[in-house]
Amino acid sequence: MAKLTVKELDVQGKRVFVRVDYNVPMEEKGGQMVINDVTRMKETLPTLDLLIERGARIVLAAHLGRPKGKREPSMSLRPVAAALAEMIQRPVAFVDDCIGEKVEKTVEALKPGDILLLENVRFYDEEEANDPAFAGQLARLADVYVNDAFGSAHRAHASTEGVARVMAKRGGLCAAGLLMERELKFLGDELEKPARPFVVILGGAKVSDKILVIGRLLEKADTILIGGAMTYTFRLAQGRKVGKSLVEADKVEVAKAALDKAKARKVQFILPTDDVVAEPVKTDKLDKKGKPVMDYQDVRVNGSADVPDDAAGLDVGPATVKVYAEVIAKAKTILWNGPMGLFEDQRFAGGTFAVARAVADATQQGAKSIIGGGDSVKALNKSGLGDKVTFMSTGGGASLEFLEGRELPGVAALTDQRACGCSH
Ligand code: 3PG
Ligand code: MG
Repeated sequence: MAKLTVKELDVQGKRVFVRVDYNVPMEEKGGQMVINDVTRMKETLPTLDLLIERGARIVLAAHLGRPKGKREPSMSLRPVAAALAEMIQRPVAFVDDCIGEKVEKTVEALKPGDILLLENVRFYDEEEANDPAFAGQLARLADVYVNDAFGSAHRAHASTEGVARVMAKRGGLCAAGLLMERELKFLGDELEKPARPFVVILGGAKVSDKILVIGRLLEKADTILIGGAMTYTFRLAQGRKVGKSLVEADKVEVAKAALDKAKARKVQFILPTDDVVAEPVKTDKLDKKGKPVMDYQDVRVNGSADVPDDAAGLDVGPATVKVYAEVIAKAKTILWNGPMGLFEDQRFAGGTFAVARAVADATQQGAKSIIGGGDSVKALNKSGLGDKVTFMSTGGGASLEFLEGRELPGVAALTDQRACGCSH
């Protein structure tokens, strides 16, 4: 059901609570937290511009990281307020809390066109618990609710879902922001009746992460191209050798079922025929999770669908790239989710970057290309082709859940267009 959008709201002089996804990658530099990628912020500017132009008093709410109910200084949104002010070329006020008397007074003082960013809502446990009393306190700050946080719409949290329910109960309108609307259009409507051939490119480490998406896309796609470590779970299902590649041995049956479904539905389901392999060796460094950082030796092209015993597959090979590029070149609609290999390491980035190039070229020839968020967006930006595709999602987990065909709680809670009683 179509949802009310911010375009249809009368917001003049009203307090508008806007949930945004400013969960941006940050890094400590010289004792300060700096933002590494402002894409998610930039993408909310159309909504903010519209609200400013229409005289709304704007209250922005967001989360940052996973502070688990504690005040974690490195996860404060204060630097985000400063960066937003610079981006939007006007003041963005900041208040170091998201509920309570001080916040209410600050909101009260806002004039039409003013913007206030609240502190990280996840500094309260009640946010993730979707606590009704907490949602009620957030709702006290506003007359209207706008959700532009597509990247968080798969979470039924107080600021993404609960507050909309409270607002609706008291007769307030809850609308999708312009970014939310675009995300739902491209990841939803555009893929419902795609121009054909519809080619889906799926990569990433795990079959288990993508199996629901694969199942759903097998009902829509003409061709599915597989890459990334999940290749090896499919290869195992075909009785191939996978060497030291990352595999999910317990997902072989799931992989087999997907291959069978593809055959039954006459969907071309293409696996890599060659790969770039290397010998993994542990270093003494530990990663953030305390696991040893791996290094790779003896990097080489393996021209067979079997991986040698001492090696792991880390990227698709040149023969595969050639086939994938040809398929992509003929596509009219392209959906890409997940890299083809360990692209963060230059030695294993060739496949992902070649696919990025093929997708960009096809787009220039008139295909519609939709990039399903997360690592594929990172890869596309790294290859310098980010602006050469039709649409890049700002959602990671959210885009995956949406592509699985699941209803997102943050969207479900918005006012239905038919129910809102507007004149449009
Ligand atoms: C994200 O980056 O995935 C969203 O902002 C949601 O954050 P979460 O995965 O911590 O809920
Ligand atoms: Mg996430």
